Amino acid sequence: MTNLTAISQASSYVKKHIKENPAIGLILGSGLGVLGDEIENPTIIPYSEIPHFPESTVSGHKGQLVIGTLEGKQVIAMQGRFHYYEGYSMEQVTFPIRVMKDIGVGSIIVTNAAGGINEDFNPGDLMLITDHINNMGDNPLIGKNDEALGARFPDMSQSYDRAYIQHAKDCADAIGLNIQHGVYVGNTGPTYETPAEVRMLRNMGADAVGMSTVPEVIVSRHAGLRVLGISCISNMAAGILDQPLTHDEVIETTEQVRESFLKFVKQIISTLPQ
Ligand code: HPA
Repeated sequence: MTNLTAISQASSYVKKHIKENPAIGLILGSGLGVLGDEIENPTIIPYSEIPHFPESTVSGHKGQLVIGTLEGKQVIAMQGRFHYYEGYSMEQVTFPIRVMKDIGVGSIIVTNAAGGINEDFNPGDLMLITDHINNMGDNPLIGKNDEALGARFPDMSQSYDRAYIQHAKDCADAIGLNIQHGVYVGNTGPTYETPAEVRMLRNMGADAVGMSTVPEVIVSRHAGLRVLGISCISNMAAGILDQPLTHDEVIETTEQVRESFLKFVKQIISTLPQ
């Protein structure tokens, strides 16, 4: 079966269950899935029901689509995403982006938990992603290119939409939220970095490190979607503080910032230019 057929079978399945097609796609990272619970009149579709969707395996991720209204906008949210470290192919990791595009989404807000590399950051900070470094040693667009999905050599020079970044900064100001901005580097994981790797990543120009987002943003740009990226700095990256990292710490911090994260993203959505 061609990829295009799989995409359209998945998107038809979702469309059958909803009345209005969403305009904004949300990818909710570790501990940030609560935003999906705020969606009004939700249609909830577990990934396991959707043709060709893989199933999410990591704890703290739910594994379902939530479609409905948020701040008066039609949205489709992924509560839980597919990670490369789970053993999925890059194509599987990014399949939901193709499906959201096929459903009619024009903008993607991608969120994640990330380790702070920039020493001016603190756990609990929110960071607008201004650019990324693909350090995964793979790319979801490797292989035969289907021109129906996007260009062979996509431009990545403004992957994180400048107008969206400005809009998000204005929203942060409006609600009195102190926001960071910086470069996100995507590693495969599942190991956290060594302190030496964190020093290397800092020298490479990264401000925050995580194990997701880069593949989804590459495919979003290939598909012509506008992207806004937000990292929740859940911990300082390895070696910065003299303490080991745990997934529990990551989840705890994302829970602590829940209220400001929710308020911020809702403010962004309510007035997002489209
Ligand atoms: N490193 C990689 N991924 C992460 C981290 C980290 O420190 N924190 C949350 N996700």
